[in-house]
Amino acid sequence: MNIFGSGNHGSNATEMPPLVRPPAPPVQETQPSEPVPFARREESASPAGSAAEQAVEASVEAPAEARVEAPVESPVTETSYDDPEVVLGPTGRPWPDLPDPRPIGIHGNARIISMCNQKGGVGKTTTTINLGASLAEYGRKVLLVDFDPQGSLSVGLGMNSHDMELTVYNLLMQRDVDIRDVIVETSVPGMDLLPSNIDLSAAEVQLVHEVAREQTLQRVLQDAINIYDVILIDCQPSLGLLTVNALTASHGVIVPLECEYFALRGVALLKNTIDKVKERLNPRLHIDGVLGTMYDGRTLHGREVMHRLVEAWGDDVFHTVIRRTVKFSDSTVAGEPITEYAGDSAGAEAYRNLAKEVAVRCLDA
Ligand SMILES: Nc1ncnc2c1ncn2[C@@H]1O[C@H](COP(=O)(O)OP(=O)(O)OP(=O)(O)O)[C@@H](O)[C@H]1O
Ligand SMILES: [Mg+2]
Repeated sequence: MNIFGSGNHGSNATEMPPLVRPPAPPVQETQPSEPVPFARREESASPAGSAAEQAVEASVEAPAEARVEAPVESPVTETSYDDPEVVLGPTGRPWPDLPDPRPIGIHGNARIISMCNQKGGVGKTTTTINLGASLAEYGRKVLLVDFDPQGSLSVGLGMNSHDMELTVYNLLMQRDVDIRDVIVETSVPGMDLLPSNIDLSAAEVQLVHEVAREQTLQRVLQDAINIYDVILIDCQPSLGLLTVNALTASHGVIVPLECEYFALRGVALLKNTIDKVKERLNPRLHIDGVLGTMYDGRTLHGREVMHRLVEAWGDDVFHTVIRRTVKFSDSTVAGEPITEYAGDSAGAEAYRNLAKEVAVRCLDA
């Protein structure tokens, strides 16, 4: 008997017609022991080129990992043409003396900095984690805000997006939620996290109907300002309402830019958005710096893009650049900042240098 009634409202499973599979195409029998044909380049068959040709070929044909792993430990690349005493950094400008950030006794009065670029995959999340961890190493109390529904920052710090009881979403949308109940500790001493997951995407829609919708994040971060020295907001790759909220809540913005030609496109739009937020919502907003990421100084292309960056943004460009290395992906998989995962690596050292530059520019100033 069909307990759901009869007629058109349902079907009895036993009455379902059997699934008819199309006949499988005839399979050619192969012997598992037969060698799979694999076109190999005969070493001896290739013409012996000049040393230069071989070097070019090696750099073109080397697998991606081999290429990115070439160790470049020093941030300094060459000396000045005019004055050999002056050492130049990778941006082509004299490399400055970067003192360690000043130790501080009393925490609070946090500077809020957004990592912002509407282009995806340029290193916003990587910079948030590793700049935060480096500043924490120098004794700063750091809060990271995951403001991207992708939740990469939370996952990159080893959190499971399904296990989060309270997230930034609850903080934004429910007035009775206390920020201290949402903050979680990370594996890095002195560095905490406001986690997010896909729930945050609903906030973008729901906030549209709120009064002072652009100031919502600013309002909820008020209680954290007196606890932390630095609050870093990891923005999503868009210039929508969430990003405008982040910029409105911030004192400064850091723009990570991949050192690649296409990365330069869209920067004018980003600058325009920053200017509009500054003019209409947040007059204190300051560009704390533009950070060249995934830099490969061994290619002419990389150096040219860097040259263009400095031409366009001048001294806003950080002297520190972050070179391309697979260690960053590895540390994400491990759920740790690179400063913990590979503390002695060039990548970790670069982010420590960035922390020193940020301190000189806008924390200790
Ligand atoms: N310097 C680097 N060298 C090599 N890989 C890097 C570097 N920085 C980041 N990556 C890798 O590139 C990918 C994108 O980085 P990340 O997630 O930080 O970018 P994002 O700007 O936050 O991206 P999205 O816009 O999607 O949020 C990650 O897999 C990360 O591990
Ligand atoms: Mg990200």
